[in-house]
Amino acid sequence: MVMFKEELAEKAAAVDALLERYLPEEKGYAKTIFSAMRYSVMAGGKRIRPLLMMETFRYFQGENEKLVEPFMTAIEMIHTYSLIHDDLPAVDNDDYRRGRLTSHKVYGEAMAILAGDALQSYAYEVAAAAAADAAPEDMPRMAQAMKVLTHKPGIYGMVGGQVVDVELTGKPIPEDVLHFIFELKTADMIEAAMMIGAILAGESQETVAQIEKAGLDIGMAFQIQDDILDETGDEAVLGKPVHSDEKNVKTTWVTAYGMEKAVQDVREYSDEAVRILRETGESRHLSNDFLFALIEHMVGRKR
Ligand code: IPE
Ligand code: IPE
Ligand code: MG
Ligand code: MG
Ligand code: MG
Repeated sequence: MVMFKEELAEKAAAVDALLERYLPEEKGYAKTIFSAMRYSVMAGGKRIRPLLMMETFRYFQGENEKLVEPFMTAIEMIHTYSLIHDDLPAVDNDDYRRGRLTSHKVYGEAMAILAGDALQSYAYEVAAAAAADAAPEDMPRMAQAMKVLTHKPGIYGMVGGQVVDVELTGKPIPEDVLHFIFELKTADMIEAAMMIGAILAGESQETVAQIEKAGLDIGMAFQIQDDILDETGDEAVLGKPVHSDEKNVKTTWVTAYGMEKAVQDVREYSDEAVRILRETGESRHLSNDFLFALIEHMVGRKR
């Protein structure tokens, strides 16, 4: 277990270094935006999505890790943009994120909106440039990865989920709609991360579809655990406020189903994801101990 934690810290630090490498230099008349982008990206997130992407790539014995790096960068930048906008006064109105004041608290609301916009478009700039510059034989998989990277965070994915989450704040939410919100606002980004890892490793459409399902289950578990931590978490460890959902009168997995079932559901979704992942690799004897340890770690996470 100690070994896993050390490995996790090392791999997350490698993602930090990668992000540092891709972030634009802070210079010129618009330098405030570069500073705001860096402030939120380098605040120290868990880097779950880029890690899942790379480890899924490795599970499928992908060879050229250089292909994955721009996509790891892009997904973390898109995720960070979603957090900046999620914290805005008009949305969840939270003052802390990743252990520091939120973007709008430091740079003001207008600049926080622009920092989110900037991270989103810059993420696509990074990924599209890598796809355009790829060797001809890699181009089809880079294009497929772009398709996922543009689809899952959008109106049929993360943004769509946030729309329904915001619209139904303070209102009761039917069971199917709560599932819809979790699937779109959170699971779609996790699905994207894992699918891109599989695509870049050269996996078939059929396998990528199975990875999408595993990603859905991991994403559901992840958001349910996030709702649990909103009640039981320690702000200092979490790096963001607890009881934010209560403040906003949100229907969460915990308010809908109770704490006991929420804990049980995290376990069940996660186990199902592991089952699917193992099944996809079974005939080829694929393995990646770190990937499975990471998924297990996410079940009991405190941040
Ligand atoms: C927070 O995501 C938003 C959710 C989808 C629950 P993370 O818990 O991955 O946040 P960071 O990136 O570690 O800050
Ligand atoms: C937000 O869900 C998911 C996003 C798309 C950012 P939450 O609103 O529960 O995320 P936290 O708790 O603020 O990180
Ligand atoms: Mg929210
Ligand atoms: Mg929030
Ligand atoms: Mg939350």
